[in-house]
Amino acid sequence: MQNGSLIRANFYHIPRANLETVTDYLGLRLDGEGALHRQLYRALRHAILAGHLSEGSRLPATRALARDLRLSRNTVLLVFEQLTAEGYLAGRTGSGTYVASPLPEAMLAPEALRDAPPAATAEPRWSRFAHCIRRYPPAAPRSTAAPRYDFRYGAIDAEPRLLDEWRKRLGRAAQHYPVDYADPRGDPGLRAAIARYVSRSRGCHCTAGQIVVTSGSQQALDLIARLLLDAGDRVAIENPGYLGARNAFLNAGAELMPAGVDTEGLIVDQLPATARLVYTTPSHQFPTGAVLSLRRRLALLEWAQNREAWIVEDDYDGEYRYEGRPVEAVQGLDRPGRTLYVGTFSKVLFPAARLGYVILPESMLDTFAAAKWWTDRHTPVLEQRVLADFLDDGEFERHLRRMRKRYALRRTALIDALRRHFGEKAEITGTQAGLHLMVRLKDYSSGGLKRLIDAAREKGIGLYSAAPLYLAPHEAPPCLLMGYATLAPEEIQKAIEHLASIRISETADAAGG
Ligand SMILES: Cc1ncc(COP(=O)(O)O)c(C=O)c1O
Repeated sequence: MQNGSLIRANFYHIPRANLETVTDYLGLRLDGEGALHRQLYRALRHAILAGHLSEGSRLPATRALARDLRLSRNTVLLVFEQLTAEGYLAGRTGSGTYVASPLPEAMLAPEALRDAPPAATAEPRWSRFAHCIRRYPPAAPRSTAAPRYDFRYGAIDAEPRLLDEWRKRLGRAAQHYPVDYADPRGDPGLRAAIARYVSRSRGCHCTAGQIVVTSGSQQALDLIARLLLDAGDRVAIENPGYLGARNAFLNAGAELMPAGVDTEGLIVDQLPATARLVYTTPSHQFPTGAVLSLRRRLALLEWAQNREAWIVEDDYDGEYRYEGRPVEAVQGLDRPGRTLYVGTFSKVLFPAARLGYVILPESMLDTFAAAKWWTDRHTPVLEQRVLADFLDDGEFERHLRRMRKRYALRRTALIDALRRHFGEKAEITGTQAGLHLMVRLKDYSSGGLKRLIDAAREKGIGLYSAAPLYLAPHEAPPCLLMGYATLAPEEIQKAIEHLASIRISETADAAGG
C-alpha cells in the first residue's frame, strides 16, 4: 500500500484504488433516489446515527469524499453545511469537520429512548387498513426505459397543443393565486361546468350541487367504499375488472363477488342478491370493451332499486367512442337515484392532473363533502379553475374532437395490422370505444403467451397480459390488453409486423400447452 494512494482520516486508512471499500467501510451508500445532495445527506446522516461515524470522529476531507463518491465538491460542501446547521457535524477551524458530540438526537431524546431500535427499522403493528393495503403493493415505477413500441394501457398521448393551452391558462389563473382553504365539494365554477358537460355529452341528469370534485376517480372510489361499506359487506364487481376499484373496495374490508361480463357487458341476471353495491363500467367495460346494452341498463337499475343497493358507474373513457351511437349513462336513466356516477379527466386530459368527480344522489352530498374535507380538505384550486375555463370556452371539446380523430386512426391501424398479420387467429374485442383493445391470439396458451410477451420485449415491443385483471388470474383466458394511445399508426404497423414474425419463428405453440 502506497502512501499516495490513501485517503486519510483519523481513524481509517483505505487504499484509494479500492474506493468502493471506503464507502462500504463508512456505511455510505447512495440510494439512487432523488437529487445527489439529498442522497449524500441521507447516507451521511444514516452513517452517523448508525454509529459507523462515531461522535467526535473526523470526516474525510470534502475533496477526497467528492472524488471517492464521484460527486462534485460543491455537492459535498452543501451537505456538510446542512448537517452542520442541523447539529450533526461541527467544524474546527483549520482541522477539518467532525461528527458532533453530543449528537442532536442525544440532546433531544429522553435517556430511555436512546438505546431503543430506530422506528424506521422496527416493524409497526399495522392497522387492518394497512394489512389490506399491503396485500397489493402499487406497481413500482418503471426502472428501465419503456420498450420502443409500448402497448401499455393507461397512458395517453401528450398533445403539445393541449399542454400549451393548459400552461397559458395556469399562468392566467395564477394571477389571482388562490391561497385560502376552499369548498371541499370543489370549485363552484368547475362543478357547474361539469354538470353542463355531463348533461350534454353523457346524458347525465344532475345539478352542480350533486357534484364533488375529487383527486381522480380513484379518490371517488375510495370515498364511496369507505362511506358506503362496512367490513364484510358484499360488493359485486365486474370480472375481469378494474384493479383501482377492486382495491378501493378491498381496502374498505368488503367481500368481493365476481360478476360475469359478456359481449353485452355486465351480466345483470347473475348479480348476487346479497351485494350492497355493484361496480360497473357500462360505456366501455374495462377491460373487455363491451358496451352495456340498454336492456341491461334498465335491468341493473331495477336490480338496485329492488335490493336498495348502490350502482357505482365508472365512466372512465366514454368520450372516446368510434362506432355506434353513444349510450346514455346509467345515471341519466336512474329516476330513484341509486347511481353514483364517477368521472375522470385522466383519459381526456392527462392523468397527472388528478382531476375527477362523482355525481351523487342528493342525500349523500353532505357526508361526501365532510369526508373529502377530513381526508384531504379539497382538490387543488388552481387546476380546478383552469379546467373550468377549459370546459366553459369550448377548448375542452375541441381537444376531444382532435384526440378522437387521432385515436381513431391508431385504433384502426392496430385492428388492420392484427387482421393482416394474424387473420382469424386474432380475436379482437372492445373496438367501439376507449384507448385499448383486448386481443386473444388463438395460437397461444397462457404459457405460450407469457413466452411471446418475453420474446416481444426483447424486440422492443411492450405487451401486457390481461390476466391480472381477473379475480382468479390463473383461470384467465390468455389475452392481451393492448393500449394504442401513445403509438403512431406507422409504429403500430411495424410493431405488429415484428410481433407476427416472433410468433411464427420463435414461440408459436399449440393452444392448451
Ligand atoms: C376503469 C378505469 N377507471 C378509472 C381510471 C382512471 O383513474 P384515475 O381517475 O384515478 O386516474 C382508469 C384508468 O386507467 C380506468 O381504467
